[in-house]
Amino acid sequence: MLDGRRVLLVVSGGIAAYKSVILVRLLRQSGARVDVVMTASAEKMVGKVTFEALSGRPVLTQIWTDPLAHVELGGEADLAIVAPATANILARMAHGLADDMATSTLLAAGCPVLACPAMNQRMWSHPATRANVEALAARGVHILGPEVGQLAEGEEGPGRMSEPETIFLTAARMMRSGSPIAGLKVVVTAGPTLAPVDPVRFVGNRSSGRMGLALASSAWLRGADVVLISGPTSVPPPYGPRVVRVETSAEMGEALERELEDASVLVMAAAVSDFVVASPSEEKIKRAGRKALEVQLEAGPDLLVATRDLRTARGVLTLGFALETDAPLENARKKLDEKGMDLVAVNEAGKPDRGVGAETNQVTLLDSNGVVEEMPLMTKSEVAERLIDRLEDRLR
Ligand SMILES: Cc1cc2nc3c(=O)[nH]c(=O)nc-3n(C[C@H](O)[C@H](O)[C@H](O)COP(=O)(O)O)c2cc1C
Repeated sequence: MLDGRRVLLVVSGGIAAYKSVILVRLLRQSGARVDVVMTASAEKMVGKVTFEALSGRPVLTQIWTDPLAHVELGGEADLAIVAPATANILARMAHGLADDMATSTLLAAGCPVLACPAMNQRMWSHPATRANVEALAARGVHILGPEVGQLAEGEEGPGRMSEPETIFLTAARMMRSGSPIAGLKVVVTAGPTLAPVDPVRFVGNRSSGRMGLALASSAWLRGADVVLISGPTSVPPPYGPRVVRVETSAEMGEALERELEDASVLVMAAAVSDFVVASPSEEKIKRAGRKALEVQLEAGPDLLVATRDLRTARGVLTLGFALETDAPLENARKKLDEKGMDLVAVNEAGKPDRGVGAETNQVTLLDSNGVVEEMPLMTKSEVAERLIDRLEDRLR
């Protein structure tokens, strides 16, 4: 994801410095080069050697050891991350101090800066810290966190550094902005919808939501403003997108109408129930005295048809999915035309390694311009990346 990107990680003297060790790992695993600079206080928290071993690069702590390092490192980086950012380093940054290797490098850095504050809640709420954070934010520094929770000294409140995974994803998004989808509102539907039989029972389907969640995450990581409208899933939603939880196809339809008003892209990856229970019981249907229970199903709303006029009027670029068992390409092409989609990803039904419920997927992508692209079997995250690539091609 971050091949060829260069990250400057400034570690200051907060107790959360140990979490930044994991951040280095995540950045390295995704292909980024990481140069670590530590303050003198940070060195008291975590050994320099730990960061050196994980980054595979020398860790800089002293301004006097290399006369040009502070200017070069900042100049070469695509992103500077300050994690943890102590009250002290935030104050020094806000006032433009350059009194050690960390602040000199930050002052010489021309790249975007992501600061992840971590401190005692009283230090965080002190007017001096508030003013420093405001000044930095006004200057374009992206402030992530702190999160509310138990602090190292046992108190509760705002002050915990964001988790390494959250910092990593935010950093990745900052480094990947500039894509055609960045800044656009993208609505993604995911998961199954349930058709209630009575207050406790429902008719559902095996959708895990994984494909939709991966698509939402991929679009968010490229800088899109993503709304994920999700049916009930056991897979947790990814960090980033705003999540709207729904249960029934009618609720999903209402959420879609609302969210599409100002959207540019729609990805319909949810397995919306084709059939809903004609007259669900308001009370739990009792078993006693029954040998059988007949439940009448009727066609539910087709959300692509229901939103077609709105999408056409607003020029919403639409990617849908079609799960087919026979003549998949012909049927999908028909759906693409009838339902006003720009792209449709065709899945085959009934194979354990693809489609609904699986961890991997194989899709063939049909385009309204007539292009057909058969993609290989991949993880759903990889499929999502390829599909968002194609949406970006259309946006270009
Ligand atoms: C054990 C310990 C933990 C500390 N944790 C934090 C912290 O989480 N956040 C913070 O702002 N300061 C914390 N401090 C205080 C800073 O280390 C101190 O303000 C120092 O001057 C920060 O320097 P630096 O910003 O150059 O790293 C801690 C101090 C100690 C001794």
